[in-house]
Amino acid sequence: MFGRNKRILALDIGSSDIKALEVNDAGGKIELSNFACTKIGNQNETIFAIREIMRRSAFKTKRCVTSVSGRSVIVRYVNMAQMGEQELKQAIRFEADKYIPFEVDEVVMDTQILEEEIADGSGEMKVLLVAVRKNLIEEHLHLLQEAGLQSAIIDVDAFALGNAFEMRARESGGLSPEKVVALIDIGSNKTNINILKGGTSYFTREVYLAGNDFSEAVSRKFNLDGQEAERLKCNPDDQAADVEEAILPTLDDLGNEIQLSFDYFENQFDRVVEEVYISGGSAQLPGLQRAFEGAFEKSVVFWDPLESLVIKPGLDEKAIGALAGQLAVSVGLASRVRRW
Ligand SMILES: Nc1ncnc2c1ncn2[C@@H]1O[C@H](COP(=O)(O)OP(=O)(O)OP(=O)(O)O)[C@@H](O)[C@H]1O
Ligand SMILES: [Mg+2]
Repeated sequence: MFGRNKRILALDIGSSDIKALEVNDAGGKIELSNFACTKIGNQNETIFAIREIMRRSAFKTKRCVTSVSGRSVIVRYVNMAQMGEQELKQAIRFEADKYIPFEVDEVVMDTQILEEEIADGSGEMKVLLVAVRKNLIEEHLHLLQEAGLQSAIIDVDAFALGNAFEMRARESGGLSPEKVVALIDIGSNKTNINILKGGTSYFTREVYLAGNDFSEAVSRKFNLDGQEAERLKCNPDDQAADVEEAILPTLDDLGNEIQLSFDYFENQFDRVVEEVYISGGSAQLPGLQRAFEGAFEKSVVFWDPLESLVIKPGLDEKAIGALAGQLAVSVGLASRVRRW
């Protein structure tokens, strides 16, 4: 449909920052041909921020891949009697009410067989069930339409994060099928936890503790208004030690929440999380790596999702490099250029 050189706009509409990557697939690595990032003033300004990005960036396509997240997105990993993909799509409509807190008619559902046969002798298979409330999808589509964009695919933040990681791992030789890693993306409103085994997601959870809570901690400690606290948090300069002290209790709370997820996964699957990979704008917080390594007793690694893309000559590499930590979800959305 798009000839050999397909092009899409991967648009991560975060709660504080919008990240847009225009990519094309010319055969080898996916090429990043243009990008933009802008802050959203408040929730009502999302549409203005997207329009602003579209106005000032000469993107060559309006066809976009986006993602949704939040409490209207339900992800479940369920064991079911063995059956084929088509049969599963029918069967899940009758079983879904056991797993999701919404009426089946209120949601759009999708399923994927993760394991044809679980190794516990039960003869069951492991299925990924994703349900998204229709009203969230409608609002999302409306937003894109108002911005003059065409929606090609709507993904889920956690899976985009996983896809970005998997693409990077593939480029560097692939993930061993038994390797268990946790991806933690710390944004402004939420922290996304995604535990992968051999590149497949086996656990995801959103914790509503992230950048905004760290800004509040800074605001309380230094008696600053929201904007001033945000500025100091992001550029602490010679006050880094004081900022680190101010945010430490919140970092500990977040570390505890993440550890609870690790404990749940480890009990459920009898497998240990081996490494932790951090992304998201708030990954840059002073003292975060030390606090997490202490809490988890594992290595905590910052990774660069851009490593799996080639950057078109002439693009501002320094500017895009400075954003790298924030681009995990958008790179995962960009990976979809390969898959239709
Ligand atoms: N240098 C920095 N130090 C600390 N925090 C930072 C820094 N730069 C950005 N942040 C924080 O990162 C957050 C934005 O990151 P990101 O773009 O990943 O979030 P988002 O995708 O908009 O949010 P969410 O995923 O929660 O919807 C903001 O809370 C911002 O304050
Ligand atoms: Mg985000």
